[in-house]
Amino acid sequence: MTARLPLRAVCLGAGGFNHANHAPVLKRLAEGDAPRLSLEAICDLDRARAERFQQEFGFRQVYTDLARMMEETRPEVVYSLVQPTATAGVVSQVLPTGLPVFTEKPPGVTVEEANPLAELAETHGNLTYVAFNRRQMPVLRWLKQWLTDHAPVRYVRGEMLRNRRREPEFGIGTAIHALDALRFLCGDVAGVGVRAQPYGDGGCADYFVNLRFVGGLIADLQVVVDCGMLRESYHAFSERAGAAAVLGAGYSSPWLQPGLATHADAGEPAFTPVPTDHHEAGGFLGEHVAFLNAVESGKRPDCCLQDAAKSVALATEVHAAFRELGGRSY
Ligand SMILES: NC(=O)c1ccc[n+]([C@@H]2O[C@H](COP(=O)([O-])OP(=O)(O)OC[C@H]3O[C@@H](n4cnc5c(N)ncnc54)[C@H](O)[C@@H]3O)[C@@H](O)[C@H]2O)c1
Repeated sequence: MTARLPLRAVCLGAGGFNHANHAPVLKRLAEGDAPRLSLEAICDLDRARAERFQQEFGFRQVYTDLARMMEETRPEVVYSLVQPTATAGVVSQVLPTGLPVFTEKPPGVTVEEANPLAELAETHGNLTYVAFNRRQMPVLRWLKQWLTDHAPVRYVRGEMLRNRRREPEFGIGTAIHALDALRFLCGDVAGVGVRAQPYGDGGCADYFVNLRFVGGLIADLQVVVDCGMLRESYHAFSERAGAAAVLGAGYSSPWLQPGLATHADAGEPAFTPVPTDHHEAGGFLGEHVAFLNAVESGKRPDCCLQDAAKSVALATEVHAAFRELGGRSY
């Protein structure tokens, strides 16, 4: 398939995360001598929010009703950037059109929401992209390349340290990113074990996950939600060599040095800092470019709804132990 450019785009949800990270990139992609998008409309249930986006980012029209927007603007690509609990409703309304859909994660807050979305995409042949932004962060792509170059890798470790994030749904809403990033680095999961450490105020816990991947690689993930600092990092170890990726773009405390450090045989490490452009470092630019490349080529991207449903299933399993606060091991 060869798409005719620029593609007519509409966007659902004019919230905070879209404002900071998606809309500025969409605007960038709609500008210049060879724009890839035309920003036809922004839709939000709250009209004032949508109007702010129109003014700041140049969307042509404002809507508060999805069906009406779809009918009147005849888009070629749809961006769903609503809050997690609204995602399944919005995306399931759009998929039967057969149009390409870019959606924020998680693609539904339960397996019961995520699996039907994957099935709908399969039935209607949609090209879809789920915004697990870690997958397009340069630092994680460098680390993935390191894993390829240093096979067989013996062990991988992820760490998601956050402050004041005692959210009962943290596992599905946010820790799913780290689980998906480990899937991106290591492949499909063959076994999972979880220990949870509750906070006294109930409904929330830190948790410690052991993963075994198809092919035998093992990994651990530590998720600590209220520890006074932020650090999200991924570490890989081969024989006499290792690599550590510390995320930037606001995912680690400002005093940390985000980038990839590689070391061998206990020597001095080599260090590559993350790009200074926030949207590039955060994977936001990369994911929009990857989506548009997929639409233009017709080739299904690796983080489509069908694949993302596996990350929802994994996060749900981890979260179940998180809720039970008992934990299991394999
Ligand atoms: N990658 C990351 O690190 C990261 C971090 C934070 C949030 N996110 C994701 O970003 C997404 C958006 O988060 P946010 O903080 O901007 O949310 P938000 O709650 O600020 O905004 C969501 C907007 O969607 C609108 N909306 C809901 N249902 C709608 C409908 N049917 N039609 C039109 N508009 C509708 C709401 O009115 C609201 O304005 C979430 O899915 C979240 O998971 C990702």
